[in-house]
Amino acid sequence: MRIVIIGASGGIGAAFVSAYASAGHTVHALSRRPVEGSSAHVHPGRIDLSDEDSIATAASDIGAQGAPDLVIVASGILSNSDGLQPEKSMRQQGGSAFEQVFAVNTIGPALVAKHFIPIMPRKERAVFAALSARVGSISDNRLGGWHAYRASKAALNMLIRNYAIEQARRNDQFIAVGLHPGTVDTALSKPFQGNVPDGKLFTPERSASALIGVIEGLTPEASGKVFDWAGVEVPA
Ligand SMILES: NC(=O)c1ccc[n+]([C@@H]2O[C@H](COP(=O)([O-])OP(=O)(O)OC[C@H]3O[C@@H](n4cnc5c(N)ncnc54)[C@H](OP(=O)(O)O)[C@@H]3O)[C@@H](O)[C@H]2O)c1
Repeated sequence: MRIVIIGASGGIGAAFVSAYASAGHTVHALSRRPVEGSSAHVHPGRIDLSDEDSIATAASDIGAQGAPDLVIVASGILSNSDGLQPEKSMRQQGGSAFEQVFAVNTIGPALVAKHFIPIMPRKERAVFAALSARVGSISDNRLGGWHAYRASKAALNMLIRNYAIEQARRNDQFIAVGLHPGTVDTALSKPFQGNVPDGKLFTPERSASALIGVIEGLTPEASGKVFDWAGVEVPA
């Protein structure tokens, strides 16, 4: 398969790259800081989700080499060292936080879909998967908080459903899904791992391996939905 991983420098993204490359697939590993070490199977490239030109250029370069069968958006943001923090209260909300979080978690994946879905196969199986999060489920939300992050993932889930509907008219073998990776030991979750019960924190390798199994089992009936690492549907 020809596979594109966006966010290849991230914890889960890097685990996807290494698992798919080890299995002999051709992997285009895209990130803001290009990952080191191109090899027979791994082709690093640059992409910045806040720069549409970089997304368009990456898609056109890869499309010229062949249609990707699988595109995984493994990028995302929850907090950063510049003061971005998930909100505990509505009083902590700020426009700049919403803009930063939506730019990476929602608008970026939307622009990836815009430029990459058209270069995917037209008649054969094609899978567009974006890492979402269980906290993006509206019906499953019992704790509240994390306003920008939750809303950005709920909006991402809506877009995935839209792409599933729109692209099914062109290719009945097309599948768009959101994936919840579990709670995974990465830079993104590091500051928030305090309440994770023993045994519930996955390594990136374990999460990626479980999600690869989920992706392999997807059928067109699954398109438009969100699944967790165990293959169980996450309600909208
Ligand atoms: N870890 C968890 O427990 C968990 C749970 C639920 C959902 N998720 C979701 O899983 C996905 C992957 O998260 P992770 O845990 O692997 O986090 P991570 O290790 O922090 O990786 C995040 C990735 O996103 C990239 N990124 C951020 N802003 C970007 C931009 N403007 N353009 C391009 N790339 C950008 C980062 O690239 P740079 O290195 O260039 O910043 C990095 O590669 C996210 O969507 C997250 O919401 C994670």
